Amino acid sequence: MTVRVLAAVTGASWEPALVAALEGEASGLTVVRRCVDLPDLLAAAAAGTARAVLLSGELRRLDRDALSRLAAAGVAVVGLHTPGDPVAEARLRQLGIEQVHPADASPGELAAAVAAAVASPGRQSHAYGDPAAAVTGPDPSGAASAPVEAAAGPPSGRLVAVWGPTGAPGRTTVAVGVAAELAAAGTATLLADADVYGGTVAQVLGFLDEAPGLAAAARLANLGQLDLAGLARVAPVAAPRLRVLTGISRPDRWTELRPSALQQVWALARSLASWTVVDCGFSLEQDEELSFDTAAPRRNGATLATLAAADVVLAVGAADPIGVQRLVRALGELREALPGVTARVVLTKVRRAVVGSDPQIQLAAALERYAGVREVTFLPDDRDALDRALLEGRTLAEVAPDSPVRQALTGLAASLDGRPPPAARRRRLRR
Ligand SMILES: Nc1ncnc2c1ncn2[C@@H]1O[C@H](COP(=O)(O)OP(=O)(O)OP(=O)(O)O)[C@@H](O)[C@H]1O
Ligand SMILES: [Mg+2]
Repeated sequence: MTVRVLAAVTGASWEPALVAALEGEASGLTVVRRCVDLPDLLAAAAAGTARAVLLSGELRRLDRDALSRLAAAGVAVVGLHTPGDPVAEARLRQLGIEQVHPADASPGELAAAVAAAVASPGRQSHAYGDPAAAVTGPDPSGAASAPVEAAAGPPSGRLVAVWGPTGAPGRTTVAVGVAAELAAAGTATLLADADVYGGTVAQVLGFLDEAPGLAAAARLANLGQLDLAGLARVAPVAAPRLRVLTGISRPDRWTELRPSALQQVWALARSLASWTVVDCGFSLEQDEELSFDTAAPRRNGATLATLAAADVVLAVGAADPIGVQRLVRALGELREALPGVTARVVLTKVRRAVVGSDPQIQLAAALERYAGVREVTFLPDDRDALDRALLEGRTLAEVAPDSPVRQALTGLAASLDGRPPPAARRRRLRR
Protein backbone atom coordinates (compact mmCIF):
# COMPACT_ATOMS: atom_id res chain seq x y z
CA MET A 1 0.00 0.00 0.00
CA THR A 2 1.32 3.42 -0.82
CA VAL A 3 0.84 6.67 1.08
CA ARG A 4 -0.86 9.43 -0.86
CA VAL A 5 1.11 12.65 -0.67
CA LEU A 6 1.01 16.16 -2.08
CA ALA A 7 4.10 17.80 -3.51
CA ALA A 8 4.57 21.55 -3.13
CA VAL A 9 8.03 22.04 -4.54
CA THR A 10 7.28 24.12 -7.62
CA GLY A 11 10.12 26.37 -8.63
CA ALA A 12 12.84 24.51 -6.74
CA SER A 13 15.78 23.63 -8.98
CA TRP A 14 15.60 20.03 -7.73
CA GLU A 15 11.88 19.57 -8.43
CA PRO A 16 12.18 17.47 -11.63
CA ALA A 17 14.73 15.10 -10.09
CA LEU A 18 12.61 14.63 -6.96
CA VAL A 19 9.39 13.95 -8.84
CA ALA A 20 11.15 11.56 -11.21
CA ALA A 21 12.63 9.67 -8.27
CA LEU A 22 9.26 9.35 -6.55
CA GLU A 23 7.51 8.23 -9.74
CA GLY A 24 10.29 5.97 -10.90
CA GLU A 25 10.73 3.63 -7.98
CA ALA A 26 8.36 1.71 -5.79
CA SER A 27 8.93 4.30 -3.06
CA GLY A 28 5.73 3.63 -1.19
CA LEU A 29 4.61 7.20 -1.91
CA THR A 30 2.08 8.28 -4.53
CA VAL A 31 2.09 11.94 -5.47
CA VAL A 32 -1.60 12.70 -5.93
CA ARG A 33 -1.12 16.36 -6.75
CA ARG A 34 1.69 18.75 -7.56
CA CYS A 35 0.59 22.03 -5.99
CA VAL A 36 1.72 25.20 -7.73
CA ASP A 37 1.50 27.54 -4.74
CA LEU A 38 0.36 27.79 -1.13
CA PRO A 39 -3.36 28.42 -1.80
CA ASP A 40 -3.34 25.41 -4.14
CA LEU A 41 -1.70 23.31 -1.42
CA LEU A 42 -4.15 24.43 1.29
CA ALA A 43 -7.12 23.68 -0.97
CA ALA A 44 -5.76 20.22 -1.82
CA ALA A 45 -5.09 19.54 1.85
CA ALA A 46 -8.62 20.59 2.81
CA ALA A 47 -10.02 18.22 0.17
CA GLY A 48 -8.64 15.33 2.23
CA THR A 49 -7.01 13.47 -0.64
CA ALA A 50 -3.58 13.07 0.96
CA ARG A 51 -2.00 12.10 4.28
CA ALA A 52 1.13 14.21 3.93
CA VAL A 53 2.89 16.87 1.91
CA LEU A 54 6.46 17.14 0.74
CA LEU A 55 7.05 20.85 0.67
CA SER A 56 9.89 23.15 -0.18
CA GLY A 57 11.00 25.85 2.23
CA GLU A 58 10.99 28.15 -0.77
CA LEU A 59 7.22 27.93 -1.05
CA ARG A 60 6.07 31.56 -1.07
CA ARG A 61 4.14 32.78 2.02
CA LEU A 62 4.80 29.55 3.90
CA ASP A 63 4.40 30.39 7.58
CA ARG A 64 3.21 28.88 10.89
CA ASP A 65 -0.33 29.85 10.14
CA ALA A 66 -0.27 27.85 6.92
CA LEU A 67 1.29 24.91 8.75
CA SER A 68 -1.45 25.08 11.37
CA ARG A 69 -4.03 24.84 8.59
CA LEU A 70 -2.28 21.79 7.15
CA ALA A 71 -2.27 20.24 10.61
CA ALA A 72 -5.96 21.03 11.04
CA ALA A 73 -6.60 19.27 7.72
CA GLY A 74 -4.74 16.20 8.99
CA VAL A 75 -1.89 16.54 6.52
CA ALA A 76 1.56 15.72 7.90
CA VAL A 77 4.50 17.80 6.72
CA VAL A 78 7.95 16.85 5.45
CA GLY A 79 10.13 19.83 4.63
CA LEU A 80 12.67 19.62 1.82
CA HIS A 81 15.58 21.94 1.24
CA THR A 82 18.35 22.37 -1.28
CA PRO A 83 21.15 19.95 -0.31
CA GLY A 84 23.94 21.71 1.59
CA ASP A 85 21.86 24.83 2.33
CA PRO A 86 21.88 25.17 6.15
CA VAL A 87 19.89 28.42 6.10
CA ALA A 88 16.99 26.79 4.23
CA GLU A 89 17.15 23.83 6.59
CA ALA A 90 17.15 26.05 9.69
CA ARG A 91 14.16 28.02 8.45
CA LEU A 92 12.08 24.86 8.03
CA ARG A 93 12.99 23.80 11.55
CA GLN A 94 12.21 27.24 12.97
CA LEU A 95 8.76 26.92 11.48
CA GLY A 96 8.34 23.91 13.76
CA ILE A 97 8.62 21.20 11.10
CA GLU A 98 10.15 18.06 12.59
CA GLN A 99 10.85 16.08 9.45
CA VAL A 100 13.34 18.15 7.46
CA HIS A 101 15.47 16.52 4.77
CA PRO A 102 17.67 17.45 1.81
CA ALA A 103 15.86 17.17 -1.51
CA ASP A 104 18.31 14.53 -2.75
CA ALA A 105 17.26 12.07 -0.03
CA SER A 106 16.44 8.68 -1.50
CA PRO A 107 12.79 7.72 -2.11
CA GLY A 108 13.14 5.22 0.73
CA GLU A 109 14.33 7.92 3.13
CA LEU A 110 11.49 10.20 2.08
CA ALA A 111 8.96 7.42 2.60
CA ALA A 112 10.37 6.87 6.09
CA ALA A 113 10.16 10.61 6.79
CA VAL A 114 6.52 10.69 5.64
CA ALA A 115 5.73 7.68 7.82
CA ALA A 116 7.36 9.38 10.84
CA ALA A 117 5.49 12.65 10.21
CA VAL A 118 2.18 10.83 9.83
CA ALA A 119 2.85 8.81 12.97
CA SER A 120 3.39 11.85 15.21
CA PRO A 121 0.54 14.20 14.38
CA GLY A 122 0.92 15.97 17.73
CA ARG A 123 4.41 17.09 16.90
CA GLN A 124 3.63 18.26 13.43
CA SER A 125 0.47 20.09 14.53
CA HIS A 126 2.74 22.96 15.51
CA ALA A 127 1.25 22.91 18.93
CA TYR A 128 4.75 22.96 20.31
CA GLY A 129 7.12 23.75 17.47
CA ASP A 130 10.77 23.14 18.07
CA PRO A 131 12.12 25.76 20.43
CA ALA A 132 15.60 24.28 20.35
CA ALA A 133 15.77 24.88 16.61
CA ALA A 134 15.07 28.53 17.19
CA VAL A 135 17.73 28.98 19.85
CA THR A 136 20.44 29.90 17.45
CA GLY A 137 22.32 32.11 19.89
CA PRO A 138 23.27 35.72 19.50
CA ASP A 139 22.51 37.43 16.22
CA PRO A 140 25.63 37.18 14.03
CA SER A 141 24.94 40.74 12.86
CA GLY A 142 25.59 41.84 16.44
CA ALA A 143 22.53 44.04 16.19
CA ALA A 144 20.97 42.91 19.47
CA SER A 145 20.13 46.08 21.37
CA ALA A 146 20.35 44.53 24.83
CA PRO A 147 22.48 41.58 25.79
CA VAL A 148 20.77 38.30 26.62
CA GLU A 149 21.32 37.60 30.32
CA ALA A 150 23.05 34.59 31.73
CA ALA A 151 19.65 32.91 32.07
CA ALA A 152 19.78 32.18 28.34
CA GLY A 153 20.36 28.48 27.98
CA PRO A 154 18.29 25.34 27.94
CA PRO A 155 14.56 26.04 28.02
CA SER A 156 14.12 25.56 31.77
CA GLY A 157 12.15 28.73 32.50
CA ARG A 158 8.58 28.52 33.72
CA LEU A 159 5.51 30.36 32.57
CA VAL A 160 2.73 31.83 34.67
CA ALA A 161 -0.48 32.96 32.96
CA VAL A 162 -2.45 35.66 34.75
CA TRP A 163 -6.06 35.36 33.71
CA GLY A 164 -9.50 36.10 35.07
CA PRO A 165 -13.08 37.05 34.24
CA THR A 166 -14.38 40.24 32.70
CA GLY A 167 -14.81 43.38 34.78
CA ALA A 168 -11.20 44.50 35.20
CA PRO A 169 -10.58 42.52 38.40
CA GLY A 170 -6.86 43.39 38.42
CA ARG A 171 -5.07 40.97 36.08
CA THR A 172 -2.62 43.56 34.81
CA THR A 173 -1.90 44.77 38.34
CA VAL A 174 -1.13 41.21 39.43
CA ALA A 175 0.93 40.39 36.31
CA VAL A 176 3.04 43.54 36.53
CA GLY A 177 3.36 43.24 40.31
CA VAL A 178 4.39 39.57 40.32
CA ALA A 179 6.88 40.08 37.46
CA ALA A 180 8.42 43.13 39.14
CA GLU A 181 8.75 41.29 42.46
CA LEU A 182 10.29 38.19 40.86
CA ALA A 183 12.85 40.42 39.15
CA ALA A 184 13.49 42.41 42.32
CA ALA A 185 14.19 39.14 44.14
CA GLY A 186 16.93 38.29 41.65
CA THR A 187 15.10 36.15 39.08
CA ALA A 188 15.44 36.85 35.35
CA THR A 189 11.85 37.62 34.38
CA LEU A 190 9.97 38.33 31.18
CA LEU A 191 6.63 40.12 31.44
CA ALA A 192 4.42 39.71 28.35
CA ASP A 193 1.15 41.40 27.54
CA ALA A 194 -1.03 38.96 25.58
CA ASP A 195 -4.38 40.62 26.27
CA VAL A 196 -6.21 40.31 22.94
CA TYR A 197 -8.72 42.97 23.97
CA GLY A 198 -6.00 45.62 24.18
CA GLY A 199 -3.13 45.50 26.64
CA THR A 200 -2.17 48.11 29.20
CA VAL A 201 1.16 46.81 30.51
CA ALA A 202 3.11 49.40 28.50
CA GLN A 203 1.03 52.21 29.96
CA VAL A 204 1.29 50.91 33.50
CA LEU A 205 5.08 50.76 33.22
CA GLY A 206 5.30 54.17 31.55
CA PHE A 207 6.58 52.94 28.19
CA LEU A 208 6.32 55.73 25.65
CA ASP A 209 7.14 53.52 22.70
CA GLU A 210 3.90 52.19 21.28
CA ALA A 211 5.40 49.37 19.15
CA PRO A 212 3.98 46.12 20.54
CA GLY A 213 6.94 43.83 21.21
CA LEU A 214 4.82 40.70 21.52
CA ALA A 215 3.22 41.26 18.12
CA ALA A 216 6.69 41.73 16.65
CA ALA A 217 7.89 38.48 18.23
CA ALA A 218 4.77 36.66 17.00
CA ARG A 219 5.32 37.98 13.48
CA LEU A 220 8.89 36.67 13.46
CA ALA A 221 7.73 33.33 14.89
CA ASN A 222 5.07 33.02 12.22
CA LEU A 223 7.71 33.51 9.54
CA GLY A 224 10.04 31.00 11.18
CA GLN A 225 12.55 33.77 11.89
CA LEU A 226 12.38 34.09 15.68
CA ASP A 227 15.50 33.21 17.61
CA LEU A 228 16.67 34.07 21.12
CA ALA A 229 18.50 37.24 20.11
CA GLY A 230 15.46 38.36 18.11
CA LEU A 231 13.19 37.79 21.09
CA ALA A 232 15.52 39.73 23.37
CA ARG A 233 15.61 42.57 20.83
CA VAL A 234 11.84 43.13 20.95
CA ALA A 235 11.69 42.72 24.75
CA PRO A 236 13.37 45.81 26.22
CA VAL A 237 14.70 45.86 29.75
CA ALA A 238 12.37 47.83 32.05
CA ALA A 239 14.23 47.25 35.31
CA PRO A 240 17.14 45.07 36.40
CA ARG A 241 16.36 41.48 35.33
CA LEU A 242 12.93 42.50 33.97
CA ARG A 243 12.24 42.39 30.24
CA VAL A 244 8.89 43.38 28.79
CA LEU A 245 7.05 42.28 25.67
CA THR A 246 4.42 44.98 25.32
CA GLY A 247 1.01 44.17 23.90
CA ILE A 248 -1.39 45.40 21.26
CA SER A 249 -2.85 48.71 22.38
CA ARG A 250 -5.80 48.47 19.98
CA PRO A 251 -8.22 45.52 20.26
CA ASP A 252 -8.58 45.33 16.47
CA ARG A 253 -4.96 44.16 16.20
CA TRP A 254 -5.76 40.82 17.91
CA THR A 255 -5.06 38.91 14.70
CA GLU A 256 -1.38 39.69 15.24
CA LEU A 257 -1.39 37.38 18.28
CA ARG A 258 -1.94 34.03 16.61
CA PRO A 259 -1.83 31.01 18.92
CA SER A 260 0.63 29.01 16.82
CA ALA A 261 3.07 31.93 16.87
CA LEU A 262 2.61 32.56 20.58
CA GLN A 263 3.38 28.93 21.35
CA GLN A 264 6.75 29.43 19.73
CA VAL A 265 7.31 32.70 21.61
CA TRP A 266 6.50 31.04 24.96
CA ALA A 267 8.73 28.08 24.16
CA LEU A 268 11.63 30.40 23.43
CA ALA A 269 10.84 32.64 26.42
CA ARG A 270 11.74 29.68 28.63
CA SER A 271 15.32 30.09 27.44
CA LEU A 272 15.34 33.86 27.91
CA ALA A 273 14.00 34.08 31.45
CA SER A 274 13.50 31.91 34.52
CA TRP A 275 9.91 33.15 34.76
CA THR A 276 7.67 34.45 32.00
CA VAL A 277 4.60 36.22 33.37
CA VAL A 278 1.81 36.63 30.83
CA ASP A 279 -1.08 39.05 31.21
CA CYS A 280 -3.93 37.27 29.40
CA GLY A 281 -7.23 38.45 28.07
CA PHE A 282 -10.34 37.59 30.05
CA SER A 283 -12.47 35.47 27.76
CA LEU A 284 -12.30 31.84 26.72
CA GLU A 285 -15.39 31.89 24.54
CA GLN A 286 -15.07 30.05 21.27
CA ASP A 287 -16.97 31.68 18.46
CA GLU A 288 -19.81 29.29 17.62
CA GLU A 289 -20.25 30.86 14.19
CA LEU A 290 -16.72 29.92 13.32
CA SER A 291 -16.57 26.54 14.96
CA PHE A 292 -17.20 24.66 11.71
CA ASP A 293 -14.08 26.22 10.29
CA THR A 294 -11.24 24.97 12.43
CA ALA A 295 -8.68 27.05 10.55
CA ALA A 296 -10.41 30.41 11.06
CA PRO A 297 -8.54 32.64 13.49
CA ARG A 298 -10.22 33.12 16.87
CA ARG A 299 -9.62 36.05 19.14
CA ASN A 300 -9.41 33.93 22.26
CA GLY A 301 -7.07 31.40 20.68
CA ALA A 302 -4.12 33.34 22.11
CA THR A 303 -5.54 33.09 25.63
CA LEU A 304 -6.29 29.38 25.30
CA ALA A 305 -2.82 28.67 23.89
CA THR A 306 -1.19 30.62 26.72
CA LEU A 307 -3.22 28.90 29.43
CA ALA A 308 -2.44 25.51 27.91
CA ALA A 309 1.28 26.29 27.83
CA ALA A 310 1.44 27.69 31.38
CA ASP A 311 3.04 25.92 34.32
CA VAL A 312 0.93 28.01 36.69
CA VAL A 313 -2.37 29.79 36.03
CA LEU A 314 -3.35 32.60 38.37
CA ALA A 315 -7.09 33.22 38.13
CA VAL A 316 -7.69 36.76 39.35
CA GLY A 317 -11.08 37.84 40.63
CA ALA A 318 -12.35 40.96 42.34
CA ALA A 319 -13.24 40.44 46.00
CA ASP A 320 -16.85 41.51 45.89
CA PRO A 321 -20.09 39.60 45.27
CA ILE A 322 -20.12 40.38 41.53
CA GLY A 323 -16.43 39.64 41.10
CA VAL A 324 -16.73 36.30 42.91
CA GLN A 325 -19.75 35.27 40.86
CA ARG A 326 -17.89 36.09 37.63
CA LEU A 327 -14.85 34.21 38.84
CA VAL A 328 -16.88 31.10 39.69
CA ARG A 329 -18.38 31.14 36.18
CA ALA A 330 -14.98 31.72 34.57
CA LEU A 331 -13.43 28.81 36.48
CA GLY A 332 -16.21 26.60 35.12
CA GLU A 333 -15.44 27.76 31.57
CA LEU A 334 -11.77 27.07 32.14
CA ARG A 335 -12.51 23.53 33.32
CA GLU A 336 -14.61 22.93 30.24
CA ALA A 337 -12.16 24.42 27.73
CA LEU A 338 -8.95 23.07 29.27
CA PRO A 339 -9.74 20.19 31.65
CA GLY A 340 -6.05 19.59 32.40
CA VAL A 341 -5.41 23.10 33.68
CA THR A 342 -5.80 23.92 37.38
CA ALA A 343 -5.88 27.54 38.40
CA ARG A 344 -4.62 29.11 41.55
CA VAL A 345 -7.13 31.71 42.72
CA VAL A 346 -6.14 35.27 43.62
CA LEU A 347 -8.77 37.65 45.00
CA THR A 348 -7.93 41.33 44.71
CA LYS A 349 -9.25 44.56 46.13
CA VAL A 350 -10.19 42.81 49.39
CA ARG A 351 -12.10 45.26 51.60
CA ARG A 352 -14.63 45.05 54.39
CA ALA A 353 -17.13 47.56 53.04
CA VAL A 354 -18.51 45.30 50.34
CA VAL A 355 -18.14 41.86 51.96
CA GLY A 356 -18.59 42.50 55.69
CA SER A 357 -16.27 41.89 58.60
CA ASP A 358 -13.76 39.10 58.11
CA PRO A 359 -13.88 39.34 54.31
CA GLN A 360 -11.21 36.68 53.78
CA ILE A 361 -13.15 34.01 55.65
CA GLN A 362 -16.41 34.88 53.90
CA LEU A 363 -14.84 35.01 50.44
CA ALA A 364 -12.95 31.76 50.94
CA ALA A 365 -16.15 30.03 52.10
CA ALA A 366 -18.07 31.27 49.03
CA LEU A 367 -15.37 30.10 46.65
CA GLU A 368 -15.15 26.69 48.27
CA ARG A 369 -18.92 26.25 48.17
CA TYR A 370 -19.47 27.37 44.58
CA ALA A 371 -16.26 26.40 42.83
CA GLY A 372 -14.59 23.85 45.11
CA VAL A 373 -11.62 26.19 45.56
CA ARG A 374 -9.62 25.33 48.68
CA GLU A 375 -6.78 27.84 48.58
CA VAL A 376 -7.05 31.53 47.90
CA THR A 377 -4.41 34.25 47.84
CA PHE A 378 -5.73 37.63 48.93
CA LEU A 379 -4.49 41.03 47.84
CA PRO A 380 -5.76 44.00 49.83
CA ASP A 381 -7.57 46.95 48.34
CA ASP A 382 -4.87 49.59 48.13
CA ARG A 383 -5.93 52.25 45.70
CA ASP A 384 -3.52 54.89 47.05
CA ALA A 385 -0.40 52.87 46.30
CA LEU A 386 -1.62 51.67 42.88
CA ASP A 387 -2.72 55.15 41.83
CA ARG A 388 0.69 56.51 42.72
CA ALA A 389 2.42 53.79 40.69
CA LEU A 390 0.12 54.40 37.70
CA LEU A 391 0.56 58.16 37.87
CA GLU A 392 4.33 57.83 37.75
CA GLY A 393 4.45 54.83 35.38
CA ARG A 394 6.70 53.00 37.85
CA THR A 395 6.51 49.82 39.91
CA LEU A 396 5.14 49.55 43.45
CA ALA A 397 8.63 48.63 44.64
CA GLU A 398 9.82 52.04 43.45
CA VAL A 399 6.96 54.27 44.57
CA ALA A 400 5.31 52.43 47.49
CA PRO A 401 7.68 49.75 48.77
CA ASP A 402 5.95 49.33 52.13
CA SER A 403 2.38 49.44 50.86
CA PRO A 404 0.10 46.54 51.81
CA VAL A 405 -0.56 45.54 48.17
CA ARG A 406 3.15 45.45 47.38
CA GLN A 407 3.83 43.30 50.42
CA ALA A 408 1.13 40.86 49.32
CA LEU A 409 2.50 40.74 45.76
CA THR A 410 5.99 40.06 47.14
CA GLY A 411 4.57 37.09 49.03
CA LEU A 412 2.78 35.80 45.93
CA ALA A 413 5.95 36.07 43.82
CA ALA A 414 7.96 34.31 46.53
CA SER A 415 5.49 31.45 46.67
CA LEU A 416 5.77 30.93 42.89
CA ASP A 417 9.51 30.72 43.27
CA GLY A 418 9.22 28.34 46.23
CA ARG A 419 10.70 30.91 48.61
CA PRO A 420 9.24 31.76 52.03
CA PRO A 421 7.43 35.08 52.18
CA PRO A 422 9.71 38.01 53.08
CA ALA A 423 10.21 38.78 56.77
CA ALA A 424 8.12 41.98 56.80
CA ARG A 425 5.16 40.04 55.47
CA ARG A 426 5.57 37.29 58.04
CA ARG A 427 5.63 39.86 60.85
CA ARG A 428 2.48 41.48 59.52
CA LEU A 429 0.64 38.19 59.38
CA ARG A 430 1.65 37.15 62.91
CA ARG A 431 0.27 40.31 64.47
N1 LIG B 1 -5.63 45.51 44.88
C1 LIG B 1 -6.14 46.61 44.33
N2 LIG B 1 -6.57 47.64 45.08
C2 LIG B 1 -7.09 48.74 44.53
N3 LIG B 1 -7.24 48.92 43.22
C3 LIG B 1 -6.82 47.93 42.40
C4 LIG B 1 -6.25 46.73 42.91
N4 LIG B 1 -5.93 45.92 41.86
C5 LIG B 1 -6.28 46.61 40.75
N5 LIG B 1 -6.81 47.81 41.07
C6 LIG B 1 -7.29 48.85 40.16
O1 LIG B 1 -8.35 48.32 39.38
C7 LIG B 1 -8.28 48.82 38.07
C8 LIG B 1 -8.23 47.66 37.10
O2 LIG B 1 -7.02 46.94 37.34
P1 LIG B 1 -6.25 46.18 36.17
O3 LIG B 1 -6.01 47.09 35.03
O4 LIG B 1 -5.10 45.53 36.80
O5 LIG B 1 -7.37 45.12 35.79
P2 LIG B 1 -7.47 44.14 34.54
O6 LIG B 1 -8.16 42.93 35.03
O7 LIG B 1 -6.15 43.99 33.93
O8 LIG B 1 -8.45 44.98 33.59
P3 LIG B 1 -8.64 44.95 32.01
O9 LIG B 1 -9.86 44.11 31.76
O10 LIG B 1 -8.83 46.37 31.66
O11 LIG B 1 -7.40 44.35 31.42
C9 LIG B 1 -7.06 49.71 38.00
O12 LIG B 1 -7.45 51.04 38.19
C10 LIG B 1 -6.21 49.24 39.17
O13 LIG B 1 -5.39 50.25 39.70
MG1 LIG C 1 -5.51 44.33 31.97
